[in-house]
Parts: sequence; structure tokens; C-alpha cells
Amino acid sequence: TYVVTEACIKCKYMDCVEVCPVDCFYEGENMLVINPNECIDCGVCEPECPAEAILPDTEDGLDQWLELNTTYSSQWPNITAKKDAPDDADAHKGETGKFEKYFS
Ligand code: SF4
Ligand code: F3S
Repeated sequence: TYVVTEACIKCKYMDCVEVCPVDCFYEGENMLVINPNECIDCGVCEPECPAEAILPDTEDGLDQWLELNTTYSSQWPNITAKKDAPDDADAHKGETGKFEKYFS
């Protein structure tokens, strides 16, 4: 599966939503997550994210994000159409420590 990671927080560009063939993105206030049980591993969303927030869970160190994607995709609403990114999305691109600062 692919997972959405910290770089999405406060950026939320949502280009990923448009390309997913199985509509498996779920929307929280500050980020999106993927439902790992629905993702078919096609990989088309990975290069679409301007924040490079989407990664295959086969990469090292992503256990926390796999768990977070699994948990919140069962709680947050499904999102199937791209909306406008937040006005300050670019200001948060590449920022570190976003999980501690903004995740709620
Ligand atoms: Fe959707 Fe494919 Fe990305 Fe999985 S890898 S979230 S199926 S676009
Ligand atoms: Fe987030 Fe990137 Fe999608 S910033 S909303 S994972 S395009």
C-alpha cells in the first residue's frame, strides 16, 4: 500500500484525489490519508503530490504513518473530488515537525 505522510499536513494540495482509480483517500482537517485496505498499489498518486507526501509503505520508518492512515481512514470522510488547497499551503511545504505542531 501507499501511505500519506507528514509532508501533507497543512499542505493538502489534493492532486492525489483526482488520480486515484479506487477513491481511497479520506479527509481530515489538516491532511488526507489513504485506506491501506482499499489502495491497489497502482502508484499513480505518488508523483502527483507537490509536497512529496505519498510513499510506498515498503520504505523504512513508515510504521507510524501506516498506523495513522489505517486509523483515520476509518474515521474521516471519503474524498473523491479535488478541492482548493489551503491559501498558505506553499508556506508549509517542506516545513519540519508538522505532526507535533498541527496534527489534531
Ligand atoms: Fe490510490 Fe493508487 Fe495511490 Fe493507492 S497507489 S492511493 S490506489 S492512486
Ligand atoms: Fe496531501 Fe499531497 Fe494529496 S499534500 S492532499 S498527499 S497531493
